[in-house]
Amino acid sequence: MDGEPSCSLGTVVCVITGASRGLGRSLAWELCPRVMPGSALLLVARTEQALRVLAEELTLQYPEIRVRWVAADLGTEDGVRRAVQGAQELNGGDTAQRVLIINNAGSLGDIDKSFVDFTDPLEMDRYFSFNVSSALCLTSSLLKVFQGRPGLQRHVVNVSSLAAIQPFKSWTLYCAGKAAREMMFRVLAEEETDIRVLSYSPGPLDNDMQEEVRTKTKDPELRLQFANMKKSGKLIDCRVSARKMLDVLQADAYKSGDHVDFYD
Ligand SMILES: NC(=O)c1ccc[n+]([C@@H]2O[C@H](COP(=O)([O-])OP(=O)(O)OC[C@H]3O[C@@H](n4cnc5c(N)ncnc54)[C@H](OP(=O)(O)O)[C@@H]3O)[C@@H](O)[C@H]2O)c1
Repeated sequence: MDGEPSCSLGTVVCVITGASRGLGRSLAWELCPRVMPGSALLLVARTEQALRVLAEELTLQYPEIRVRWVAADLGTEDGVRRAVQGAQELNGGDTAQRVLIINNAGSLGDIDKSFVDFTDPLEMDRYFSFNVSSALCLTSSLLKVFQGRPGLQRHVVNVSSLAAIQPFKSWTLYCAGKAAREMMFRVLAEEETDIRVLSYSPGPLDNDMQEEVRTKTKDPELRLQFANMKKSGKLIDCRVSARKMLDVLQADAYKSGDHVDFYD
């Protein structure tokens, strides 16, 4: 596969959130050729049909990998609970060489508003519940499911954004959520020094989320900037960015907790 060393990540148990489309779907495809037979993969998102099709396609191409899915809304307590249950049922943690928890699911929130338009605390609660709280609760629960032991390397990935470290007009919730998530995972890196924590910023991707950015961003300059990127072919293919993320994990040359960008 594109010159990648085969099975180089060893026997892996992996959970990917937001796997139904976009970057998460590409991560699933890019991960499979890098893992050993006996590895297991759990796909989580809300759209059952997309997860089912992806799991079937992956199983057809990689029959030696156990692919399971859970359709769950991670913005709810029940959704997080069902994702954790799916991971418990996945098994494989006892024999795996690596556990990979990829917090990829995310949403833009209301990007057609300015800061001063946000007056409803419930709207913020809903946004942060999915984009921040669920990533914390899911990760901590999964780390309990996949306990550390000698010979096991645990990795936690936070799919981040330039918006975590740079403010963008109209993106109040998105910037705040990404910044909060990143700091949260930096604390994990400080506390659990045996866990490799990576905040990966995938760059501007050519996908559904970018279409929303181009069409809904309130600030006209920013909207135009992203429209121009699309027009001039500067958006990044999800599979290319997914590959870069896995290369970074595999090379293991980052400081745990660091923000690594596609362009680094
Ligand atoms: N696109 C970009 O240019 C860009 C740039 C920087 C960072 N990122 C980050 O990259 C990550 C992946 O985004 P993407 O670009 O691939 O976006 P996307 O195409 O919109 O995909 C988002 C994924 O999250 C899932 N999701 C959304 N709400 C959910 C919920 N309540 N519960 C469970 N799953 C949910 C979606 O599946 P369902 O709808 O089936 O639930 C989908 O699989 C995000 O964290 C995003 O912030 C993206």
